[in-house]
Amino acid sequence: MKPFDSLPSADGLWTGLRDRDGKDIAIVVAQGVIRWIGERTALPAAAADRPSRDGGGALVTPGLVDCHTHLVYGGQRANEFAMRLAGATYEEVAKAGGGIVSSVRATREASEDELFDSASQRLRSLLAEGVCAIEIKSGYGLAPEHERKQLRVARRLGVAHGVTVRTTFLGAHALPPEYAGRSSDYIDLVCHEMLPALAAEGLVDAVDVFCERIAFSLEETERVFKAAQALGLPVKLHAEQLSDMGGAALAARYGALSCDHIEHLSQAGIEAMRAAGTVAVLLPGAFYTLRDTQVPPIAALRALGVPMAVSTDHNPGTSPALSLLLMANMACTLFRLTVPEAIDGITVHAARALGLQDTHGTLAIGRPANFVLWNLNDAAELAYWFGQRPVRTVVRQGCIAVGEGA
Ligand code: NIG
Ligand code: FE
Repeated sequence: MKPFDSLPSADGLWTGLRDRDGKDIAIVVAQGVIRWIGERTALPAAAADRPSRDGGGALVTPGLVDCHTHLVYGGQRANEFAMRLAGATYEEVAKAGGGIVSSVRATREASEDELFDSASQRLRSLLAEGVCAIEIKSGYGLAPEHERKQLRVARRLGVAHGVTVRTTFLGAHALPPEYAGRSSDYIDLVCHEMLPALAAEGLVDAVDVFCERIAFSLEETERVFKAAQALGLPVKLHAEQLSDMGGAALAARYGALSCDHIEHLSQAGIEAMRAAGTVAVLLPGAFYTLRDTQVPPIAALRALGVPMAVSTDHNPGTSPALSLLLMANMACTLFRLTVPEAIDGITVHAARALGLQDTHGTLAIGRPANFVLWNLNDAAELAYWFGQRPVRTVVRQGCIAVGEGA
């Protein structure tokens, strides 16, 4: 892959495109922005003399959005995969000194450049499949300098790879070993030192907490939310993954952008999310890796019209996944999403889960040019194939990032 700043511009008139409904459409891009989009027959005459680019009849979708990742970390945890195959549960692995804390050790040992290089490699896989915006969480540093290091890497990744990055501070991901038995003191550090300092450095777009028996309580979660609110930062939550903690209802009270995992989400949680406009982020990669059997309450979310996003949850422990299309497939197969729901889940609803609904996830005039041309006849194939990469062209931030000339 070429460096982003040497990629060709996507400016011009794009024709030979089909949308999800099979309509023949055209897109005009100028200075990296969509200036016109619609059925080709309605194309204004003035647009016709722009340099033209032929999509060859390809299906076009908005650039994909991966709205929940832990992309920046040191090492890997294949050993835990083996432990779980031998029968250990996620909670048992964590109690045996593995789990999040083992990635914390490796992340603390890694330099900023090492973290940048390993995360870049992973990011390239996602970008090659059409991802144009991505959320990246901290949470493997769990100390001021190491959380800063992770978030700085996340920002650098956005610049170097020409991709929209939303950073999320997840200082309350796990209790670092040096705070064993002093959870409340650690939450004080998160709320009064880490978060204000990192926010002041412009490193934090949102704040997340892992609210769970093996992580932080509802009361601790609320303390972090209050600190975020005081700084004017939006919140999200790792909610009801292993048990119903009532986290989703709490997050909704703070106007959360999203509640993620939600296998054990209650009806009251769903109703609170609906009232707050909170997105339900489904993470089938973690469900699959943990061989979970508790499926998120899809039918109830659907019935109340809660928007459902789908993401990789890329992380070294529970979801070493680097294909958002595979997640769409799994969301259908494992969670029974319909194919249109799965496609919306990796585009429009994922953008909303990041507060990016005005710029990403749909194609419209005035938005930055982020779109993907696919070597597929039917949009349903996006969630049907797995293990292949049917991308023809990726236009990211107004540049041709994959495909001819890239
Ligand atoms: O989203 N649930 C908590 N956090 C991650 C797992 C992190 C890890 O095991 O390293 C998740 O699944
Ligand atoms: Fe996660």
